[in-house]
Amino acid sequence: MAQRTRFDWRGQDIISIRDLSREQIEDVLNHAQQIRPDPQMLVGKVMASLFFEPSTRTQLSFTTAMHRLGGRVIGFSGTEGTSIVKGESLQDTVRTIERYADVIVMRHPLEGSAQFVADTVTIPVINAGDGANQHPTQTLMDLFTIKKFHQRLDDLKIGLVGDLKYGRTVHSLAIALTRFRKIELRLISPPNLRMPPAILKELAGIVPYSETAELDLRDLDVVYVTRIQKERFPDIEEYEKVRGAYVINLKACEMLKPSAILLHPLPRVDEIAPDVDALPHAKYFDQVQNGVPVRMALLKLVLVGS
Ligand code: CP
Repeated sequence: MAQRTRFDWRGQDIISIRDLSREQIEDVLNHAQQIRPDPQMLVGKVMASLFFEPSTRTQLSFTTAMHRLGGRVIGFSGTEGTSIVKGESLQDTVRTIERYADVIVMRHPLEGSAQFVADTVTIPVINAGDGANQHPTQTLMDLFTIKKFHQRLDDLKIGLVGDLKYGRTVHSLAIALTRFRKIELRLISPPNLRMPPAILKELAGIVPYSETAELDLRDLDVVYVTRIQKERFPDIEEYEKVRGAYVINLKACEMLKPSAILLHPLPRVDEIAPDVDALPHAKYFDQVQNGVPVRMALLKLVLVGS
């Protein structure tokens, strides 16, 4: 039997995890848990996949999700071959695309661009990453994965490791965790890549956190590792100073408690050694796989509701 929802998702934009309550997050995760391929569900619907920045997982999992529900996909990956290279504005581009599609999934380097597009068009917009700001659908699949392996989203000690300054996945995830109880955060980063003060302000009084540069993985239930976001550094010399700051190798994993899970939004460069993949802690490819049901659920909810 189809999962019901008590929320009015149809036509909704998914721009920031800030817009979702705990109950709404749980609703998406419950739908993701129940959803199965259905070639009729989104038949006749078109998703516009607008990737102004590179992507493997987000772009292909949204496309897979749409295909598994019987919908079709149009779009581009990089602006070459589009009229943007002739100087067409983002505004005119999306005003055109809304005449062809039922939903826009967009990744763009500018923070706030997803909200701008949502304010411009009348069809729902799903933010697939806007600069260093937000990646809400990644967070939903991160939470789905944590719940799958720990059977809960409360009462967890979570370490966020790496580039906490520019990493949009950790910004979204940290904010999402304010919706849950008894969460403790350990923020592990080089001093110049600490979590932005604006996000720490949102955590204050809700989620206790500590900040450290030491790769201390003891007592954590979840270790969420991120890549240093080279493309966001204004000065490449600053990147070179922190490149390879943390490497989760077999030795580092000796600190993990047996039930701890290792997550990473991927792509990784060198921050998790390949031989760690064989450890039972390594769940980042399960995390990747969970992107499909979570995005199937989101597309179903915003396009047809319950
Ligand atoms: N996690 C993530 O957003 O991966 P892609 O950049 O490959 O989409």
